Amino acid sequence: MDHNVIQEVRSKVDIVDVIGERIPLVQKGKNFFGVCPFHDDTHPSMSVSREKQIYTCFSCHATGNVFQFIMDYEHVDFKEALKMLAERVNVSLGNLHFKKENNKNEPLYEIYRLATKYYQNNMNTNYGKKAKQYLASRKLGEDVIKEFEIGLSLASNHDLVTLLQQKNYSLATLNQIGLASDDHDTFIDRIMFPLYDVAGKVVGFSGRIYDTSNANKYLNTKETPIFKKGLTLYHYHIAKEATRTAKCVIVMEGFMDVIRASTIGVSNTVALMGTALTTEQANLLKRLSPNIVLCLDGDDPGKQATLKIGEQLLKMGIEAKVLSLDNDYDPDTYILEFGKDRFMSLLENAIPFNDYKIAALKTGVNFQSDEEKSAYIHRVLEQISTIDDEIRIEIVLKNLAKEFDIGYNTLEKRFWEYKKAKPIQKIEMTPKSGTKKQDKYQKAIYAILYYMLQDPFVIDQYEKEGLFLPDETCRFLASEISYYYKKYGMIVVADLYTYLQDKKELLTLLNQVLTQPFPAVIAKDTIFDYFKVVREYNKNLEVNRLQKMMEKEVDPLEQAKIAEQIRMLRMGS
Ligand code: UTP
Ligand code: MN
Repeated sequence: MDHNVIQEVRSKVDIVDVIGERIPLVQKGKNFFGVCPFHDDTHPSMSVSREKQIYTCFSCHATGNVFQFIMDYEHVDFKEALKMLAERVNVSLGNLHFKKENNKNEPLYEIYRLATKYYQNNMNTNYGKKAKQYLASRKLGEDVIKEFEIGLSLASNHDLVTLLQQKNYSLATLNQIGLASDDHDTFIDRIMFPLYDVAGKVVGFSGRIYDTSNANKYLNTKETPIFKKGLTLYHYHIAKEATRTAKCVIVMEGFMDVIRASTIGVSNTVALMGTALTTEQANLLKRLSPNIVLCLDGDDPGKQATLKIGEQLLKMGIEAKVLSLDNDYDPDTYILEFGKDRFMSLLENAIPFNDYKIAALKTGVNFQSDEEKSAYIHRVLEQISTIDDEIRIEIVLKNLAKEFDIGYNTLEKRFWEYKKAKPIQKIEMTPKSGTKKQDKYQKAIYAILYYMLQDPFVIDQYEKEGLFLPDETCRFLASEISYYYKKYGMIVVADLYTYLQDKKELLTLLNQVLTQPFPAVIAKDTIFDYFKVVREYNKNLEVNRLQKMMEKEVDPLEQAKIAEQIRMLRMGS
């Protein structure tokens, strides 16, 4: 990758223009502010710095340079973002070479391509007639079969294995990727739904029974080197495109639901393929759109999952919306029975998760009992104390007052007691350092990194002293800053972002460092003081280590030697 041309593009583009074209920005002092598009928000929590050419969201901690913004906002990879911006400022990229993706798994993808074609082909033979009838009975026609590459595994149990062995794939490999079990096909006489990874490559199958009453409705590919269920969301690669124009991403349980939704032109959907959401999947969702609509099955497990997932997303700073269906329906059957318009109107009327949760508190409460009624009201008050929107809170309080004929003021007073007890939770991106109170050592380390970015003098000083930063990530960042400075002769923070873009934990740290409230100008002596604090920290560490060693030492002579070492350490500064 040619760093110069990337730097050239970066320096010719003004991040304020690029972001300003996409979200309204208002200038306040040196910086510009707007509503962050990367989490659900109405406050202008994103700041854009013309001087530093970076953006930072103080709420969800999204940060980066103009490339990162385009990548996340437009859902493109680095190469594509670079192209878009290069065009804008008329920089020719020539034959830029990008590091090839690690493709040791390429043969595995190839096998899945072959298998997909093979199953699809079966569907179009005589054997496929019954399967097609089944699909037709579920109102899934040729166009859907084609679009979702739906196929058929045959009743004889070694067709695919034989075919792939003829193409020189070993039985061991086929077992490894879940297409063979021992010496026979894994999937036998099932309708085959390809499962895609986030890039749209087939990495597994889900096979549905259609002609029997076998207990296992769906058989899924096991976890393999290319299929990790927890990193997969069905239909993600299509939803990625669709969410550019749609206002939200809709989360469903099954791929049948997603397929059905597509038949009414709703493609901004993904399926969990179950009812659990992993952190990785949640992050994927967040990248698609800050507006997430949960549309799970109407049954009890679906309701439970809605509560659980909604809570998970709240912790990530997103209040999802909920489209809840009646008990007997899933999105598939609902759309089939009531059609597009009814579904769209449910979607329009999806309610904020907190409201859903409050409504859910009602289940099982016996409102004839004053005690239960009061406990319910308390739970609601406690619940809304976490909502960061005064208007919504007032609405809930007014409704409660009306519904249970209780004075508004009484409710409001109790509400404030809950509110005080539970201040609005700040979103923690790095719980490790976030939960602990920052001590003076941490501050000194941040300060050193902060001023390394501002002033080459601090870099020189860091190098000259050979200062050892006790935290590994901090040490790594310091050495990268130092290396970068030596290579380019100056530090441009926005370019440093590009340089570090593959090193997620360094970017997170860089963001933390840059958002510390240090003064822009600082006396050299203060810098030296920070260095001293870090040296003192290291010294204490070393003294502790020696003390432990001394306690274990049995030889009095050796003990005396260590004691002397400790004394010397303590004397020096
Ligand atoms: P559902 O049982 O809701 O599937 O499970 P569905 O979409 O309604 O399927 P149809 O309409 O009966 O054909 C939701 C998801 O859970 C997974 C599948 O990924 C399915 O899409 N599942 C379900 C399994 O993996 N195995 C099963 O036996 C059942
Ligand atoms: Mn279903």
